[in-house]
Amino acid sequence: MYYSEIAGVGSYVPEKMVSNVDLEAFIDTTDQWITTRTGIAQRRISTGEKASQMAVKAAVKAIKHAAIPIEDIDLVILATITPDFFTPSTASLVQAELKLKNITSFDISAGCTGFIYGIQIADQFIKSGKSNCALVIGAEILSKVVNWQDRNTCVLFGDGAGAVILKRSNREGILYTYTGSSGDLEGLLTLPAIPLKNPFYIDNPISDQPSYIYMNGKEIFKFATNIMLQSIERVLKETKLTIADIDFIIPHQANFRIIDYVAKKIKAKTGQFYKNLDRFGNTSAASIPLALDEMVAKGMLQKGNRVIMVGFGGGLTWGSILFNWVR
Ligand code: COA
Repeated sequence: MYYSEIAGVGSYVPEKMVSNVDLEAFIDTTDQWITTRTGIAQRRISTGEKASQMAVKAAVKAIKHAAIPIEDIDLVILATITPDFFTPSTASLVQAELKLKNITSFDISAGCTGFIYGIQIADQFIKSGKSNCALVIGAEILSKVVNWQDRNTCVLFGDGAGAVILKRSNREGILYTYTGSSGDLEGLLTLPAIPLKNPFYIDNPISDQPSYIYMNGKEIFKFATNIMLQSIERVLKETKLTIADIDFIIPHQANFRIIDYVAKKIKAKTGQFYKNLDRFGNTSAASIPLALDEMVAKGMLQKGNRVIMVGFGGGLTWGSILFNWVR
């Protein structure tokens, strides 16, 4: 039986910081509204970098942190809803840029839960003996798919990337993984792809509309609070642990009110849930590894700490991972 462990983490955000006050200049919003309703004060926005380029920067840091030879990596999984291309995959672009040879690389699309899905898949590759060392990345340029005239959504999102090295280990690093989806709720959060338009079907009335994120914020809020709670409870039940046995919970960073509600419901200790959305907004698949990397950089994680990562997103999707920090 093989185990997998998180051996290194890294992240990258674009330099350009956009504050709520900056947004006030061109949409009907206020710093006060955004801060009190979401907890977001600023976000990083790409001024030219693509998802693959940010992913490479995060990956290089994770590889350095893991102190592994780069050629040990035999699998690249990249979660994104904002790829550079439909094909090649952003994972393949990263693989090429890192000069990794003849390895498996692919993108996954699970919205903001993408990184959780990625860890679950990589963990299975390692446990089955198919992979020794995986690079799992969440990378998003959401600024290219938000409608900057729509105050309901554009204030919420930011750009960024986070990466981890997951490698085979004789220590039990990843303890439990769980994912779920409910495609019947897809209409609550959408980002349309290329609409059908060909010589045989030219009547599509929406065919020339740009592709933007649409979100029913109120319904997603209700969904998010319930599913985050359920996903944490599922981990605890399956591993016969209680919330008191967990050192930290790293939730998807969408809204501080969602996080605080879940923390209160589950009777978490103050500071048990990590938050950094005030500075980065919602970076979708990048949000959890970005937060994890920040915690590691701050020296918050001690060897033996038990950590739950929990997310939700478009699909709708959700999931949670319990791991031991073994470094
Ligand atoms: N600035 C100012 N006013 C705004 C605004 C903005 N950026 N965005 C919305 N409003 C207005 C609305 O138009 C509405 O005005 P009205 O009452 O005159 O119609 C009012 O604020 C209240 O809007 P509402 O949607 O009820 O706000 P809310 O408290 O539900 O907060 C969200 C909105 C989006 C912040 C909240 O619903 C949320 O966080 N949902 C979950 C989003 C999420 O997690 N997404 C990520 C999925 S991975």
